[in-house]
Amino acid sequence: MKKIRTVFCGCGHRAFGTGRSVMTIDAYETVGVCDPYEDKAVSLADEFEEKTGSRPAVYTDHIKMFEELKPDCAIVVANWEVHVAISIDAMRRGIAVAMEVGGAYDEDECFELVRVYEETKTPFMFLENCCFNKDELLATSLVRNGMFGRIMYCSGAYGHDIREEIAYGDKTRHYRLRNYINRNCENYPTHELGPIAKILNINRGNRFVSLISRASGSQSLHEYVQDKEGLEYLKDVQFKQADIVETMITCENGELITIRLDTTLPRLYSREFMVRGTKGMYWQPNNMVLIDDNNFSESKHTMTYPDGTVGRLAGDYKGLSLFANSAENYDEYLPKMWREVTQEILEQGHGGMDYFEFVVFADCLLNGKEMPVDVYDAVAWMSITYLTERSLKTGMPVNIPDFTHGEYKNRKTLDVVELPIINKN
Ligand SMILES: NC(=O)c1ccc[n+]([C@@H]2O[C@H](COP(=O)([O-])OP(=O)(O)OC[C@H]3O[C@@H](n4cnc5c(N)ncnc54)[C@H](O)[C@@H]3O)[C@@H](O)[C@H]2O)c1
Repeated sequence: MKKIRTVFCGCGHRAFGTGRSVMTIDAYETVGVCDPYEDKAVSLADEFEEKTGSRPAVYTDHIKMFEELKPDCAIVVANWEVHVAISIDAMRRGIAVAMEVGGAYDEDECFELVRVYEETKTPFMFLENCCFNKDELLATSLVRNGMFGRIMYCSGAYGHDIREEIAYGDKTRHYRLRNYINRNCENYPTHELGPIAKILNINRGNRFVSLISRASGSQSLHEYVQDKEGLEYLKDVQFKQADIVETMITCENGELITIRLDTTLPRLYSREFMVRGTKGMYWQPNNMVLIDDNNFSESKHTMTYPDGTVGRLAGDYKGLSLFANSAENYDEYLPKMWREVTQEILEQGHGGMDYFEFVVFADCLLNGKEMPVDVYDAVAWMSITYLTERSLKTGMPVNIPDFTHGEYKNRKTLDVVELPIINKN
């Protein structure tokens, strides 16, 4: 089998997780790793050598790496400020790109990425791994099978207490700290928004129209750094980034989306993914699928909540063991690849979803297939960041550009959930 000669641009924290998935997939051969911090590139090369027996070449300049190694593909795992520019450098050289997620800084960056893609037609996939996750794919499959009726509302969050990662950013040479000091926006929208946009066929018959954001003040990081050793220099810093940013997005076909950036108050991790239709709902935090059989007829049903409270249900619902009942739908609706998942895959990055995303990327690249999370998805989702920054500054709603130049009306749905490699029979 022809191997995909692969290089890594960026050898920070995430590259190690990504590397773990890439190493286990036969299709990839990692020939180079690059980071301006040489020690980071050396560490990633060591990791590849230890786990695969083969050592990628080490670079500190991605252009030099592209020119010398002429790879088939670049996995761009660099920080938000530079990942689009590096991807453009690769695409201009005909090197296929798998680009990690993050928000955009301005409109030019987004339009330039699209322009270079359209000019070069170099394959590009946006690495929004949550689009490959079990829960999101189950929900998508239920939606596609009409189980929830017409979808009217979806919501989600990036709910992750990352105060430590942010605050120690200077010590770990991580990019989030400077962003939290200097900007106030929904800086990480894609983990929840990506799967929602796929369900709502954004860029494929539907599009985001406008958004409005509201934010809390910024207090939690300031308190966090007060008594931490080594962070004395941050004691008087006023972080611009709000503790909570809520954003409402309207869609052309009438749906409403809300997303929340929630990264500096104490909490447990959750994407709080929820899909609401006229006949049912999916609610990830409780692993819950609820189907309304009789469309809010008089109901005799009650249900017992985990705390013992008994509630009366408004409709005749199928699946009365409502909490943690999503597994009841696996046989019929979960894509086959997830039904057959092995322990080895589950133990890989982010419970297996990283592995699936790289299996799909390799399949599309080697067989000339259209990428299921493409450049138009990338910019539509990433643009939310600079648009929320604008909305928070002015207090006003802002329009969301159509990066497909009107083509979204003609583009056909391309569902991860229906890809033959994910749902093979
Ligand atoms: N999909 C996910 O689940 C997930 C999880 C974590 C991070 N990420 C994304 O991965 C990216 C990296 O995150 P991280 O936590 O590893 O950050 P990091 O700061 O640890 O690593 C980024 C690295 O990129 C390097 N870099 C900068 N310019 C470069 C260039 N021109 N060429 C090569 N490397 C360059 C930096 O020096 C740094 O070492 C971010 O975009 C982040 O949003 C995604």
